[in-house]
Amino acid sequence: MSYALITGASKGIGKAIAEELASRGYDILLVARSQELLAQTASAISTKHQVKTDFLATDLSAENAALQVFNWCTERKYSITVLVNNAGYGLSGPMEKYSVEENRNMMQLNMIVPTMLCQLFLPMLKLQTKAYIMNIASSAAYQAVPYLSIYSASKSFVLNFSRGLHQELKNTNISVTCISPGATDTDFVVRAQIGEKGLKTASNVNMSPSEVAKIAVNGMLAGKTEVITGLVNKLGAFAAWLLPKGMVESSVMKIYK
Ligand SMILES: NC(=O)c1ccc[n+]([C@@H]2O[C@H](COP(=O)([O-])OP(=O)(O)OC[C@H]3O[C@@H](n4cnc5c(N)ncnc54)[C@H](OP(=O)(O)O)[C@@H]3O)[C@@H](O)[C@H]2O)c1
Repeated sequence: MSYALITGASKGIGKAIAEELASRGYDILLVARSQELLAQTASAISTKHQVKTDFLATDLSAENAALQVFNWCTERKYSITVLVNNAGYGLSGPMEKYSVEENRNMMQLNMIVPTMLCQLFLPMLKLQTKAYIMNIASSAAYQAVPYLSIYSASKSFVLNFSRGLHQELKNTNISVTCISPGATDTDFVVRAQIGEKGLKTASNVNMSPSEVAKIAVNGMLAGKTEVITGLVNKLGAFAAWLLPKGMVESSVMKIYK
């Protein structure tokens, strides 16, 4: 079996996706910053599922990180059939709460890295009998979210880029699927510095990472273009499409202000 490469796989949704793919027989390559968590996850997955694993500890928001990941795979002769662009995070509050560098790093990780990894791995994916790209967006991709403005815009980018690429590759061996999770019980809220109101709203609708991962992998293997996880999140995206934009934006703003 050839490899599935998952970014942001040391914890949260990425780790759950790695486990879900391993349970279906894929060998697994994990990428994130935390060396120790990656080593533990790689070892646990290979023991539990009897698949091969390896990991690369690197900061993907660094310059040329996508190329470093690609070179690491080619040097070790890893043949990739599944690319999962999952690593990402948000920063809540007014944009000027964060330095230019902090906002740039988030945009780099959320948009540039997935795009570059898709481009770099396309020739390798084209050599496979069947290959998949899974890009993780968010329910925040379906409307502007004041006080999470850069994050929601970055996820709209992921959604539209993925949909476009899905069509471009329609008659090839590569299927591209965009997954949009809503609130999921991970460390996302910690790094995003989500306040009390946001935490309370999330706790009412939180899905588990393993639930999200199962839906995501099923959707990917079914060749779907876009998957929104969970009924509440599907209804949210529908409402965002249906209702006046200003009304939707004022309503979500109250959660994150
Ligand atoms: N949880 C939610 O409510 C939610 C909702 C919608 C969409 N999402 C999306 O789901 C994806 C996964 O998030 P999560 O909820 O699982 O959050 P999480 O638990 O914080 O996991 C984020 C993962 O990304 C890795 N990562 C972060 N910064 C990195 C960097 N600079 N370089 C390399 N790896 C990095 C983290 O590992 P290290 O810290 O070890 O680097 C970790 O493995 C993200 O794209 C997020 O936007 C999450």
